[in-house]
Parts: sequence; C-alpha cells; structure tokens
Amino acid sequence: MKSYNIAVIGGDGTGPEVVREAVKVLEAASPKFDLKLHYTYYDLGGARYLRTKEILPDSILQELRQFPAILLGAIGHPEVRPGILEKGILLRLRFELEQYINLRPVKLYDPRFCPLKDKTPEDIDFVVIRENNEGLYTGSGGFVFKNTPNEIALQSSINTRRGVERCIQFAFELAEKRRAGKPWKGLSAADLAAGKKSQLTLCGKTNVLTFAFDLWERVFHMVGNKGFPTVKRDYAHVDATTMWFVKSPEIFDVIVTDNMFGDIITDLGAMVQGGMGIAAGGNINPQGASMFEPIGGSAPKYTGQNVINPLAAICAGQMMLDFLGEHDAAQAIENAVIKVTREKIKSLAAGKMGYSTSQIGDLVAQSL
Ligand code: IPM
Ligand code: MN
Repeated sequence: MKSYNIAVIGGDGTGPEVVREAVKVLEAASPKFDLKLHYTYYDLGGARYLRTKEILPDSILQELRQFPAILLGAIGHPEVRPGILEKGILLRLRFELEQYINLRPVKLYDPRFCPLKDKTPEDIDFVVIRENNEGLYTGSGGFVFKNTPNEIALQSSINTRRGVERCIQFAFELAEKRRAGKPWKGLSAADLAAGKKSQLTLCGKTNVLTFAFDLWERVFHMVGNKGFPTVKRDYAHVDATTMWFVKSPEIFDVIVTDNMFGDIITDLGAMVQGGMGIAAGGNINPQGASMFEPIGGSAPKYTGQNVINPLAAICAGQMMLDFLGEHDAAQAIENAVIKVTREKIKSLAAGKMGYSTSQIGDLVAQSL
C-alpha cells in the first residue's frame, strides 16, 4: 500500500465545503487503488486573519514545504481588502514553494454545458501551462509622486531566462507525453508525415511586448530545437488566442504563456469547458510541494448553503493523484466525474445542479 501526506487548506467562503467533497471522493477511491492518504488540515484565510492578524505564519510555510501535495479550496474574503490574502497566502505559496507551473486543463465533458454553439467534447480538450512565478505577479513596481496629479504607478513584468526556460521545458515535455504518444487529431497530413504528434502553442504578444516576448520566443525555439522533434511549434498573440477559444477551440493542444495572460485566458477556458464549477488547476513544482485548487474563487454569496459545485475541487483532487503518480486512481475519478456530469447533473452552476454540494460528492464517490 502506498501512502501520501496531504496538506489541506479549505480557506475562505465555499472553499471548505468543496474541499470536503474532494476529500470524500479521494477517500472513496483510495481503498480501491490500495492507497492511504493522511490529511493535515491548516486553518488559513480571511477568518484567521480577521481573528489573529496572521496571514501565513512562517512556521506553517515551513511545514507545508514537507508535503508532496496540498489541496486548496479558495482564498478571498469579502471583509478583507483585495490583495492581502491573495498575495499573502496564494501567491506567497506559489512563489515560496516554487510552484512555477500553473497547469490548467480545459476539457469539455458534456456539450450541454458548453456556451459555444455546435462544439463537442471532441473540440474542447487542451491544456494551458501558465508561468506561475514571474511576469506581472512578482509585486515589483511602485509609485512616484503618489496622490499628486503627477502620480506614476509602475508594475513591472519580470521575465528571467531561467524562469521562462523551465516553464517552456515543462510545456514541451507535457506536449510530448500527452495522449501517450498518440497523434493529436488537429495535425495535418503534412505534419504527420513530418513525424509530428502534438502541438505546443506559445501565446504571447510579440508585436507589442517586444522585450518580454522576444525572450519567450527565442527560448521557445531554443528548447524546441534541443530535442522535441515530434512537437509542432505554433504561435498565437494573446488577443487572437481569446478569439480562437470561442471560434475554434479545436485548434489547440497545449498552450504555454506568461502569468498574466495565463490568468486571463484560463477564465475564458473555464467558461468554454462549462464554467468555474468544473475548472481545476495545479500549481506545480515538479520537484517539490505542489498545490491543487478549483480555479474559481471563494464565492462568498453561496457560502454555507450546500449549493456550490464541488466538481472543480474533485477534479483538483484527481489532478493531485495524477501528479503523485497514481494515474489509475486519477483516471477513475475523472471517469466518475464524467459520468455524473453526463448522466446526473442538470447544470454546472451553483444552486442549479439539481443536487446539493454534498450530494454531488456522494454521486461521484458512488460512481467510482
Ligand atoms: C487565479 C486567481 C488568482 C490569480 C488571484 C486570486 C490572485 O485569479 O488563480 O487565477 O490571479 O492568479
Ligand atoms: Mn484567475
């Protein structure tokens, strides 16, 4: 029997409710796959901050480093000024644990839930790899002449060669191994004849951000030339990428982009796959403590009502098992989510599912 220590941070709003269902499903899957998960719960978030003024104590950060994986609900509290908890907990964890990849699959499980006309699960199945430690998120910047008419606000996008390279390297490796080497259906006859099996799109803005994305583009080709002959290289500007997400999502296989663009396009990605109720992501340090979360927020207005959709958190649990190397258990959870999505749930939106939060958790657990 394999065992893993998992840190659990329910966090704010509906976070604890959805994480409870994710743990329920993990617990139902574990004995079937000879796994034992040991959970350690951490009280972090707005409630703790309002009570104690502590955001993320250093001692907890040190403890969290020791876990192979962290399951996170949501961070963000209506009574705390925006930025304090997001920067102090979520971004601090991403940075200090060097979770330099934010992996966000965009996969449609049921055409009923796609807002795009005539798109099917065949058309919407791609992955966004968002750089997660740099770009506009580092907090580098400042004010000059604050509160005067001459005020200047600076917010710098930081792009290091090392940071860009490790992100792009991860993206090529993922593109290479996705679908276990079976060719992606979007390839042309010419691509197949040239030995291509998958596609990696660099999403940037080389026409305006001529420093940052010049570096990204050079590193993209440098890494590609070093040993990914089966990965077709593609490029799209970020604005065009949003257009294609809506018009022709089937043209994407794997996308790599910077932190800010990745943040923006993955909310759109979440909508085309059915909404925040189903979208999950992983903050990954391939060598360290990685953190898995539903990508929607804390949804304060639904807190405590047992109406929020826990599928995104359940999918975060699935991604966590996959990251831990438990591929069969992860696949079983995904299959169960697909079954419940296709056969039971009426809507993926909070309060409209036809079931409560805990009933959805039960249904997935029973479908394993
Ligand atoms: C996300 C969120 C966060 C981000 C916020 C809450 C800081 O929007 O995970 O996408 O911008 O990264
Ligand atoms: Mn976001």
